[in-house]
Amino acid sequence: MSILELKNVCYSYSGKHQNVQVLKNISCCFEKGKVYAIVGKSGSGKSTMLSLMAGLDIPTSGQVLYEGTPTSKMDLDRYRRECAAVIYQSFRLFPLLTISENITYPMELRGFRGEQAREKARELVRKVALPESVLDRFPNMLSGGEQQRVAIARALSMDSKLILADEPTGNLDEENSKNIIDILINLARQDNYCVIIVTHDLSVIPRMDVVFRLSGGELKPV
Ligand SMILES: Nc1ncnc2c1ncn2[C@@H]1O[C@H](COP(=O)(O)OP(=O)(O)O)[C@@H](O)[C@H]1O
Ligand SMILES: [Mg+2]
Repeated sequence: MSILELKNVCYSYSGKHQNVQVLKNISCCFEKGKVYAIVGKSGSGKSTMLSLMAGLDIPTSGQVLYEGTPTSKMDLDRYRRECAAVIYQSFRLFPLLTISENITYPMELRGFRGEQAREKARELVRKVALPESVLDRFPNMLSGGEQQRVAIARALSMDSKLILADEPTGNLDEENSKNIIDILINLARQDNYCVIIVTHDLSVIPRMDVVFRLSGGELKPV
């Protein structure tokens, strides 16, 4: 079974005077062990589609199914907390928490604290190729590339195999961008995550398992 499926998903932003239909009847499946890209021009609806997959909203019509259950029938707070890990262009680490605390935050929400959480943080910084010495630092003491690795480590401390990334390399130079994409690809192929990368950066296309293009509100395979 797919970990995530979109079935006839439509989405409109409703304004005072008009509705803007951004997504038109989108259907697609995402599996564990694969890395996907959704490409499209700025304004094509990529972030809107990601926000539906992340449980920030539900479709106007149609369904987003996580392991077969429509998100519209789930507790969305819980879905966001436990199922859909999101990585953003702007990293979005908690500035007043240490790197260790940032990474283990999703675990603490599930009740894991203390040495157990700390050991997991050590394991996860190694996984994203950062030295353990970063654990007691604060986000503003790290470079952009390092902060994005921490954001990935934080995503991995959720107990889910779904990783959603919205323009994860948008604020990074070429070398760091390649490193971040390498980490995301390895998570899919070695650790069986389902990784979905939303991006306008077409250079990632040859490295992905599956690529979709959003255009005119419709999603098509590339
Ligand atoms: N909160 C909102 N209210 C109304 N329109 C929105 C809102 N957010 C995005 N849009 C519009 O929806 C379209 C798709 O936006 P978005 O999903 O952010 O595209 P992308 O991520 O591909 O750049 C754009 O035309 C944008 O202006
Ligand atoms: Mg966007």
